[in-house]
Amino acid sequence: MERTFAIIKPDAFAAGNAGKILARIYQEGFVVVGLKKLYLSKVEAEGFYYVHRERPFFDELTDFMSSGPCLVMVLEAEQAIKKWRDLMGATDPAEAADGTLRKEFGTFVGENATHGSDAPETAAFEISYFFAGMELL
Ligand code: RTP
Ligand code: MG
Repeated sequence: MERTFAIIKPDAFAAGNAGKILARIYQEGFVVVGLKKLYLSKVEAEGFYYVHRERPFFDELTDFMSSGPCLVMVLEAEQAIKKWRDLMGATDPAEAADGTLRKEFGTFVGENATHGSDAPETAAFEISYFFAGMELL
């Protein structure tokens, strides 16, 4: 079994889509190992997206991620990292396949409903950024 880190981003949370997204997560067979609602500060969002600090969209991205509450989660499954990214779909909702979360709930590339770790190393960093070990029993 593998763990990945996921976020229901502020756009999807504000639109009232968190319940539908969680229903899909359970339907697809993930175990929700950790789950909490957070309202990130700008500095907390910058720390989380530190790898993107040089990118032109960094300020816009961290403004958005600190614009309202979100749900942060640790999901467990066989090949959870790939499985969750497949369920999310392409970064740009306009390019996301039918049946994916970003197709259904995303608006545009900057507000695309969900986040998922992209590799085992980033999953480990992202899980430990938001959760203490005791929260993941
Ligand atoms: P995420 O990290 O949020 O799961 O998304 P991702 O792996 O599919 O995409 P990534 O390249 O890591 O980019 C992180 C987030 O930055 C925003 N973005 N905006 N304006 C733009 O061109 C642009 N490109 C990326 C997206 O919201 C993306 O989720
Ligand atoms: Mg990414």
